Amino acid sequence: MSEPPRQRPRSAIESLIVIAVVVAVGAAAFAYTAGWLSPNRLTPQRLVDAFSPPSGPALGHRRNHAKGICFTGMFESNGAGSELSRAFAFSKGSYPVVGRLNLGTPDADAADATVRVRGLGVQISAPDGQEWRMALINPPFFAVSNPDGFFALLQASASKDPNAMPELIKVHPEIADFDAWAKSAPWTGSYAEEQYNSLDAFIFTDASGASHPMRWSLLPAAQPVPVPVEELAKRGPNFLEEEIVQRIKSGPARWTMVVTVPNPGDQTADPSKAWPADRRKVEVGTLVVQTIEAEADGPCRDVNFDPTILPSGVAVSDDPFPAARSAAYRVSFDRRTAEAKDYPRTVAGASQ
Ligand code: HEM
Repeated sequence: MSEPPRQRPRSAIESLIVIAVVVAVGAAAFAYTAGWLSPNRLTPQRLVDAFSPPSGPALGHRRNHAKGICFTGMFESNGAGSELSRAFAFSKGSYPVVGRLNLGTPDADAADATVRVRGLGVQISAPDGQEWRMALINPPFFAVSNPDGFFALLQASASKDPNAMPELIKVHPEIADFDAWAKSAPWTGSYAEEQYNSLDAFIFTDASGASHPMRWSLLPAAQPVPVPVEELAKRGPNFLEEEIVQRIKSGPARWTMVVTVPNPGDQTADPSKAWPADRRKVEVGTLVVQTIEAEADGPCRDVNFDPTILPSGVAVSDDPFPAARSAAYRVSFDRRTAEAKDYPRTVAGASQ
């Protein structure tokens, strides 16, 4: 039997060339990922930098929705959602929640009556360790149709050029719709009177394996009472936190989770376009907020309400926002947790 032909051993120079090529390809991939080869590419870092006011970010705090307060509670599922998704949170039962009521501003000290967008972060936990995290806001649709548009909006908002915003609105006319909502929607005096909306569409998969896009909202049990914003300004810079602390002393605050089922053909990729109001709605459970804790020492402080942390039965759709948000929230989380000394806890050994 003849031996297979032997390969000529590599010379030292050839081996060095192979190593150099491997290192160069790795470095190029790293540089591409970091955005060094295309400085105009939108990276999560540039997106997060764009929130920063000229005076710099609020160190130790979230780079957006920087002002907020923690809560704990339960999600009480009525079981009706199991028709739509096999997600644990739709099986009838009670699941623990850590959350955060917040304001859509990079300024951790903003006066409450100066911030139009109010938000809600929720983390629902399953006994088997699965989690469903979401971050919802009170407008009925988002300000822009895609993440690049959001970056452009942040830049135009910070620009001294008076034409910056009118020029951007020509490309993103949906900003004018959002502006109209911001100017006309009633303000309320309580986080507990707001409706919070997912805006982004996600894919629900039911027990049979069939998948359908959905959006959802948390509808307040408390009756919203419109209050002129000038009136709210007189209640002090932190009236929302003060109000929710007082409110919970006399009993939990509640929201009904309502899932919206689109008609075939309804688009799912653009959260700046609400689905028509007549779409089927399914009440799937109740968010019950039982305790409120200051953020500095509270259980939400170091939670990243990344909307792509989803349980089995829920997945992202063709909506490009959740992936962009996930990457940006991660950058914000890494920065703020590295700056913990700038946002000291007030109680030694407070919850992490
Ligand atoms: C490309 C678009 C977006 C970007 C770049 C962005 C960016 C951010 C950042 C950097 C944070 C702070 C994250 C942290 O440090 O944990 C944040 C928080 C938040 N965002 Fe967004 N966001 C976007 C879109 C949205 C949308 C569409 C919604 C709602 C539907 C939303 C709702 C919220 C809420 C409620 C929070 C506060 C969550 C918490 O309490 O930790 N964002 N966002």
